[in-house]
Amino acid sequence: MVSYSFILINCILLLCPLILIQAQQPYIRKLTTNCGIRNASTSVLGYACNGVNQTCQAYLTFRSKPPYNTVVSISNLLNANITHLSQLNSVSQDHTFGTGEIVLVPTRCLCLGQFYQANATYLVRSGETPFLIANDTFEGLSTCHAIQNERNNLTSNIYTGSRLIVPLRCACPTEKQAAAGVKYLLSYLITWGQTVSGISAIFGVDTGLTLEANELSESDYNIFPFTTLLVPLSDPPSRLQTIAPPPPPQPSLSSPPDTSGKDHKWVYMLVGVLGGVALTFAIGLCAFWFCIRKQKKTSLPMVSSASQSFEAVEKPVDKKLDVDDDSEFMESLSNIAQSLKVYKFEELKLATHDFSSECLIKGSVYQGTINGDLVAVKKMHGDVSNEIRLLNTIHHHNIIHLTGVCFSEGHWYLVYDFADNGPLSDWIYYNALNSNKLLDWMQRIQIALDVANGLDYLHSYTTPPYVYKNLESSNILLDDDFRAKITNFDLARSAEGQFALTRHIVGTRGYMSPEYLENGLISTKLDVYGFGVLLLEIVTGILVSDHYEKVNKNLSEVLHDVLEEDDIDRNEKLNDFIDQRLQGNYPPQLAMSLVKLIDGCLDQDPSARPDMSEVSQCLSRILITSQARDLSPTISVQGR
Ligand SMILES: *[C@@H]1O[C@H](CO)[C@@H](O)[C@H](O)[C@H]1NC(C)=O
Ligand SMILES: *[C@@H]1O[C@H](CO)[C@@H](O)[C@H](O)[C@H]1NC(C)=O
Ligand SMILES: *[C@@H]1O[C@H](CO)[C@@H](O)[C@H](O)[C@H]1NC(C)=O
Ligand SMILES: *[C@@H]1O[C@H](CO)[C@@H](O)[C@H](O)[C@H]1NC(C)=O
Ligand SMILES: *[C@@H]1O[C@H](CO)[C@@H](O)[C@H](O)[C@H]1NC(C)=O
Ligand SMILES: *[C@@H]1O[C@H](CO)[C@@H](O)[C@H](O)[C@H]1NC(C)=O
Repeated sequence: MVSYSFILINCILLLCPLILIQAQQPYIRKLTTNCGIRNASTSVLGYACNGVNQTCQAYLTFRSKPPYNTVVSISNLLNANITHLSQLNSVSQDHTFGTGEIVLVPTRCLCLGQFYQANATYLVRSGETPFLIANDTFEGLSTCHAIQNERNNLTSNIYTGSRLIVPLRCACPTEKQAAAGVKYLLSYLITWGQTVSGISAIFGVDTGLTLEANELSESDYNIFPFTTLLVPLSDPPSRLQTIAPPPPPQPSLSSPPDTSGKDHKWVYMLVGVLGGVALTFAIGLCAFWFCIRKQKKTSLPMVSSASQSFEAVEKPVDKKLDVDDDSEFMESLSNIAQSLKVYKFEELKLATHDFSSECLIKGSVYQGTINGDLVAVKKMHGDVSNEIRLLNTIHHHNIIHLTGVCFSEGHWYLVYDFADNGPLSDWIYYNALNSNKLLDWMQRIQIALDVANGLDYLHSYTTPPYVYKNLESSNILLDDDFRAKITNFDLARSAEGQFALTRHIVGTRGYMSPEYLENGLISTKLDVYGFGVLLLEIVTGILVSDHYEKVNKNLSEVLHDVLEEDDIDRNEKLNDFIDQRLQGNYPPQLAMSLVKLIDGCLDQDPSARPDMSEVSQCLSRILITSQARDLSPTISVQGR
């Protein structure tokens, strides 16, 4: 049942681009910087008047930045109604916003000739150019082209002290959007490191709808800072959305809530009818995605030069946990671990036969039996508050479940659900000891997808978001069904701020991303790199350290042979590359998609790596398509 609905949901994701063919407004891309070229056929001048209405209520976002950091100054700059703006953001009219905070701005959008716009007026200061005004002052809510167009003369200069009309980019819903329940369009200002799915999740909007509203697609979704992205809304936006992270999804599902609920019934029906078509399509989508991505590699800078991006966010050690006194300890424990069982040391001793060597699994992890259930007990020193706090707040299918804790004589004991099949590292490598342990293609893809889902959950749906930082095959446990659970969270840390500098370089070297090893940069993209390494090991059956022996520095070089374009010997090279023990029992086309996925994850430039939600979408397509292949190819999927 679980896996069935899982597949269904992924089919819907898959079908989105097929159903929503008709686009709405072209995304502006990087055209904003080239002010010399006037090209009315692109969207630089504004969004086309293709809506139902000539005028409508619309919304903009603006990032508070002195001197435009108060309700009044922002309202004046963007010609917004002060009362309405303060109500929309749930603040008083004399409120000052923190620098970088997202401010929601209500505006009246009007069709003028070909384009929608909202007028702002602006007094030019010395040294300002249309580009500086559009990009730096208005943060991309307007373009130099639109400002120049307003003056109807491309070459005319703007003079200090003159009053300009600055057309702000807004739009009204099209007939198609209105039919889908969209009432407003929000012009969202993109900043560094954002993705369409991330922005959609902020407003609880289906990613497919946002892509469509901007004429983007799943194979072409690169977005750039200081440009606007239209977000289709059925209700006015609220400050709760812009200050709070998105709510966690149901365990093991990673799609953001869908606003087009009504449409679902026929989408479900379509799944049956179009299933066959879609599955064939999946291979293409996934394969091309990473090709295109590579070709169009964005020049999105990795870090903004602003020093504030480099905050050191090492968490202070929780002093409360260093106490030895039992009663004080229990009190502090109950604060962080309300829903955890607190075991007595005697109970754990009994469970593990006094921590006997027969019960030792590995390192300081013991197997035990409590009330007839198998558990794993890990003995730890030092500060374990990080792991307890994290595991106590998150509950996800693919993340190990912490059931209880115990503290005795200076040591912590963490009690987890037991994973029958042990660590993934016991299963994937060529090794005489493990000769009877072998995972088939489907099991490997399922495990990879499980890990991707767990990481995506940590990155996108926990508060605050976490970077796992500890990816390696021995930290992935397999249950009796060979479903994966991520474990060992002692290195995990908050990812607040997209990038942060850490003082201690820790983690497993072969899995660590170049930007972390060189500069200590931490972001969720660090896990994406680690995941690429893990996936490489999973499909080749070869330890990362052995892969490193074959390359200079850049791990993705091991993929070059297979990835070489137009190579007639490609299948042969693929056969050399994929785990020999599979003896060719894998679909070559899907294996190629997987190689491309690995290549994307191992990109030296973190911003060019996909994010975990994209990785898991891709893997779920590969899994679904592999499953379809597993059935007899003559049986039509329509019958389901
Ligand atoms: C103008 O836009 C058209 C259509 O989008 C495009 O083909 C053309 O290359 C553009 N011209 C310039 C100079 O950018
Ligand atoms: C400004 O907004 C408030 C509340 O939204 C509204 O009552 C008022 O009429 C608006 N004022 C103008 C000038 O539009
Ligand atoms: C915006 O400015 C243009 C001229 O630049 C003017 O024609 C139009 O009426 C203005 N729109 C509004 C709503 O003020
Ligand atoms: C646009 O403005 C932002 C922030 O004000 C700045 O960081 C960025 O470099 C500007 N873009 C260009 C191309 O100058
Ligand atoms: C544009 O402005 C320049 C300089 O102000 C002027 O010489 C030229 O005639 C103007 N062109 C148009 C089409 O108004
Ligand atoms: C268009 O305008 C009418 C009348 O103001 C309004 O009822 C309707 O909701 C608008 N449609 C859209 C899509 O905004």
